[in-house]
Formats: sequence, C-alpha cells, structure tokens
Amino acid sequence: MSQYVIEGGKRLEGELQIEGSKNAVLPIIAATLLNEDITYIRNCPKISDVKIMIQILKELGCHIEWQDHTLVIDTRHLATYVLNESLVKKMRSSIILLGALMGRCGEAQINRPGGCQLGARPIDLHLDALEKMNVMISEMDEAIYCKTLHLQGATINLKFPSVGATENIMLAAVRSEGITVIHNAAREPEIIDLQDFLIACGAKIKGAGTPTILIQGVKKLRGASYEVIPDRIIAGTYLAAAAMTRGSIRLKNVCYAHVKAITDKLEMMGCKMVQENNGLVLSTPQILRGIDIVTEPYPGFPTDMQSQMMTLLCTCKESTTIKENLFEARFKIVDELKKMGADIEVKGCTAYINGYKPLYGTTICAKDLRGGAALVLAGLVAEGTTTVEHIEHVERGYQNIVADLSKLGAKIQERK
Ligand code: UD1
Repeated sequence: MSQYVIEGGKRLEGELQIEGSKNAVLPIIAATLLNEDITYIRNCPKISDVKIMIQILKELGCHIEWQDHTLVIDTRHLATYVLNESLVKKMRSSIILLGALMGRCGEAQINRPGGCQLGARPIDLHLDALEKMNVMISEMDEAIYCKTLHLQGATINLKFPSVGATENIMLAAVRSEGITVIHNAAREPEIIDLQDFLIACGAKIKGAGTPTILIQGVKKLRGASYEVIPDRIIAGTYLAAAAMTRGSIRLKNVCYAHVKAITDKLEMMGCKMVQENNGLVLSTPQILRGIDIVTEPYPGFPTDMQSQMMTLLCTCKESTTIKENLFEARFKIVDELKKMGADIEVKGCTAYINGYKPLYGTTICAKDLRGGAALVLAGLVAEGTTTVEHIEHVERGYQNIVADLSKLGAKIQERK
C-alpha cells in the first residue's frame, strides 16, 4: 500500500494550475452515452474516479482513449445495459449512469452502490424521480433493474436539492417525451456544467444554477468538444494548504464565483485574497482568527471542504465549531487529528475544535477522499514526519497532490 510521507514545517509559496472538476466531469462522461457519437472532453483530470468511469463505459461497449488531457469517447456502439457490478461498487456516483442509460436504452441494470465512507447515502430521490418518468423499477437482491417503454417528462419536486438526483433526472429527461421540470434542484456549478455540455450536444435545457430546471426532451443528441470547469474543491484545498503554513499562493484556472463560499471564510480568518483574470492570489498573516463553519448545499459552504477547514482551524487560538449538515459520517478525520495532538470533540453533527494545540507527526489513515487531503494538510505543519496511509482515497480526486505541493515547497513524497 502506498503512503504519503510528509516532513512538516515548510511554508508554501508559488503558483499552481487547477485541473478539471471531478464532480463536473463524472456526469458529463455519463452524459456521452446519450449522444451516440464522438465526444471530446477537454481538461479532464486523470484521477482514479475518472478511470473507473472510463472502465464502466468500456464494459458497456464504448471506445475511449486519452489524447493528452482530452478524453475522447465514442458511444456509437453499446453492447449491454448491465453495469459491471464490481466497478459500480467502487464508485458511488456511478448511480448517475442510470438516467443516461434510461435515455439511451430504456433499460438499465445496476447494483446498489451501497453505503460509503460518508454514511448511508440513500438513492430514493433518484429512483422516485425515474418512476415519475414512467420507469418501472424492480429490485432483485442487490441489483436494481429499470425499464421503460416510453420515457415521459414529469414535474419532480425534490425534497432535498440532491446533486446526484438532479443530474440523474437531467440525464433521463433530455431524450424523454415532453417537458420535465425539476423543483428544488441542486444549484452547484457542476449542474450548470452538465447543462452546458448537454446544450452543446443539442439538448434543450434551462435554469441550471437556479432551483428550477426545465428540460424539453429532444429525439437525438450529437457529439461535442467541451472543456470542463476547474475543480473548486481542489482550489479550496490548496488555498487551505497555503493558509495552514501561513504561505501565499497564486492559483490559475479558478472560477472565483465558484470558490466564493470558501474564500469568504478564509478572508474572515484574516487571509488576503486578490482576484485575477482566471485565478486568484492568497496571502496569509502569521495569526489566523478561528471562525465557525456550517456546511450547506451550494451556494453555502461545501461539505467537500469541511475536513480541510477543520485541519486549518486546528492552527487557530480560538475555539471553533463545524456543523456538518449533509453527511452523517464526515468527521472520520477527528480521531486521526487527535492522534497528532489536536483537541476536538464530536457531538452529533457538530465538531468542537478546542483551540490551538501543536500537531506532531505520526502514522495516520485516510478514510475518505477529502478527509485524506485534510490529513496531508495536517502533515504540512506537524512537527516531524507524518505518514498518511490509504492514499488511494486521495487519488480518487487529486491528480497529483504530491507534485503540486512539492512545487509549492512542501517536503512530501509518495512511498510505494
Ligand atoms: C455530490 C458530490 C459530493 C458532494 C455532495 C454534496 C459528486 C460525484 N459528488 O454527491 O462530492 O459531497 O454532492 O455536495 O458530484 N440523499 C438522499 N436521497 C437521495 C440522494 C441524496 O437522502 O436519493 C441525501 C444524502 O444522503 C445526503 C444529501 O442528500 O445527505 C446530499 O447528497 P447529494 O447531494 O445527492 O450528494 P451526491 O450527489 O451523492
């Protein structure tokens, strides 16, 4: 098992280019199933979640190749509508393939993605919406079989603005008959990116980014060449990393509006932020103020940045709290940070960070993607050597965290 080995104490400084967004590109790759054509996805990150998605599509019969950082996907020929069980189990977000396959084949079989590191993660909203669109759903043991003779547009009121359910409904609706309206839709930038990609393929959609999305079904879509938006969570992670070490960083290829919930918090803590054309610069004073954080759906503070902020708050004198509103099991790094010397308590969905305590390097274990990145951040300021195990979680979403942080002056290496 590979590990990251970090020598703490280096101040980060320098410039990084932010890669394409994981959470934008995964539904876009799923959406290519709908166009029965060739698609070029530019600025596609080479992360393990993307590699699993590619494998799933290949198993369905698609032809896929990399041309540098462009992913070329030919979905003209499909051999099956049954999704590979072991691959689906590796990646919970493979559930978005359901909507795309319904639009393409009218039939799909997928294994229940099951629980994950963040807790139960049900898919009731996805399945209820598909049923409203005239999909018959039957469950056999772990497998879900969906079939429709005629995919029908519908009005869907989501009881929670789920990102994945909103995407699944959009994917099912673009080639269905009539109009679909999604009320209380998720408003994340990745939803807008999916809409923009689908429009580039000839779909009729509007409203992404607002709580109401309108989709007029069309008979056919075509291929497109499309550049994915930058990853706002990777940008946020590196901003937090620089702030941890009281460093300064220039990020290129960042959409400022997408990271505003994160930069607002960093500014409240005392960081200085300068917006640039297609990027931003952060500088950090020696003393940062502790602040409280509450996670919410976009445009609120993203749950995917909660762990990194927890690590950063461990470097502040004031006692602070983090309230996690989205996922039940998203405080798994607390035990690891405590091993390093942090003073944190969890009560229900709130973590209490009881002010500054020096962190010491030790061996800690990544248990989920963002938590793993947050532990790397802790290693940057810990005294001595920190070894992060189970880095496969981090590799799901960071193309090259070792090279990126090294470029900024961190002493970090991967030990195989
Ligand atoms: C997506 C992101 C993930 C991010 C999350 C919230 C991708 C690939 N993943 O995950 O990184 O942390 O949004 O911003 O884009 N829920 C239900 N029933 C459902 C679906 C969801 O109860 O059918 C609940 C979930 O348990 C959770 C909440 O809704 O508590 C948010 O989940 P959702 O927005 O669906 O997140 P994902 O799409 O899974």
